[in-house]
Amino acid sequence: MDEAQSGSAAPDSHGHGKVALIAGVTGQDGAYLAELLLAKGYVVHGIKRRASSFNTQRIDHIYQDPHHAGVRFRLHYGDLTDSTNLLRIVQEVQPDEIYNLAAQSHVRVSFETPEYTANADALGTLRFLEAIRILGLSDKTRFYQASTSELYGATTEAPQSERTPFAPCSPYAAAKLYAYWITVNYRSAYGLHASNGILFNHESPLRGETFVTRKITRAAARLQLGLEECLYLGNLDARRDFGHAREYVAGMWAMLQRPTGGDFVLATGRATSVREFLLMAFRFAGFDLAFRGQGRDEVGLCQQTGRVLVRIDPQYFRPTEVPLLLGDATKARQELAWEPRVSLEELCREMVEADLYRAAQERRQRESGQLTAEQLIHTPGGFLSWLATQPT
Ligand code: NAP
Ligand code: GDD
Repeated sequence: MDEAQSGSAAPDSHGHGKVALIAGVTGQDGAYLAELLLAKGYVVHGIKRRASSFNTQRIDHIYQDPHHAGVRFRLHYGDLTDSTNLLRIVQEVQPDEIYNLAAQSHVRVSFETPEYTANADALGTLRFLEAIRILGLSDKTRFYQASTSELYGATTEAPQSERTPFAPCSPYAAAKLYAYWITVNYRSAYGLHASNGILFNHESPLRGETFVTRKITRAAARLQLGLEECLYLGNLDARRDFGHAREYVAGMWAMLQRPTGGDFVLATGRATSVREFLLMAFRFAGFDLAFRGQGRDEVGLCQQTGRVLVRIDPQYFRPTEVPLLLGDATKARQELAWEPRVSLEELCREMVEADLYRAAQERRQRESGQLTAEQLIHTPGGFLSWLATQPT
């Protein structure tokens, strides 16, 4: 996908679809949600950030050439930190539903970029809500806010439900706390159909490579295929409630189909430590791990070979950690008929298999001995010197 296509919404090829606007369409959830809405007959508009190279890998398979008739998927350049840009996009698209999935979504990174995180994650949400209001779309446009179980942070209550008090303990969670409450406020103050999905961790083969589950499944595959030497992790004892992203985006959609907005927890109700996930993923990749040592000196050994495959690197510790997130999704089950069905084992296996597939492709490329274009560009003399060695 080489260029974002702006402009007014194309007519729905079926003539009866709703129009949705997804901010964060290039992310894990954005990709699954765009797929779901297209399958339901929506016209889908996505907001993507300008980047110095392509960043649409997750949605390339649903790309539609804007020159063709009846296009139902369009992209717009945009950024949550740019009010006028968001205002213009909302005005052009006139969406029935806005899904605000865009965010600086990495908790550890938010300690390093707290101001940017607040701008994008907190004020970005306000900018959308104001756009709806300023443009007189309060009766037409429904709004979904990607809220998070990180809001519960340091709570000692478990499991956590819509009634559990929030105790955010990162710049990310503090920014998302503002976004949560401003969404609630616009619902009550102006009657907007605005909802918070308080989603617990959800993963998939599309998960970003620096989140812990994907970091683990990717490393397990690459270690198995000899592409990597060792995996470095932080706190192995944090526990999270891991579900499958594909199922969670269906819950987002269900929230916007209700007669009024509301706030809903989506979770599986099962907590798993990073250590347990690590053991499971490595087993699927063909390694039996055993742990030796303690604290920063702890290592994960391959039981068959004694080789150290996992080490602790304190740079992945967080200044304040969230020890346990475990959700109670009773309200979503009762009011949205939402039920997660994919087990942790199935999720983990799917992620490992996808990463084994990717790693095998990379190994084949390496074994072929053929240099990539990027490698050739960076050889002495660059691509031209390679060209000179080729028969004319
Ligand atoms: P993700 O993969 O990191 O995707 C985030 C998306 O936001 C990407 O498309 C990213 O664009 C975009 N984005 C970041 N900053 C932006 C900005 N300033 N302006 C416009 N777009 C921006 O996250 P995800 O896992 O799909 O999560 C989706 C949302 O749910 C996020 O808001 C996250 O905080 C929240 N959430 C996630 C989970 C979870 O477990 N996955 C749980 C609860 C809540 P680029 O592709 O250009 O980076
Ligand atoms: N990322 C990462 N990298 N996390 C590690 C590592 C590591 O090397 N080692 C241990 N962890 C631990 C973290 O300290 C944390 O306790 C746990 O693994 C999960 O970390 P992440 O996968 O980064 O996810 P998260 O729980 O912090 O945040 C995700 O879930 C939230 C919902 O609860 C993100 O998707 C957020 O956007 C989302 O709101």
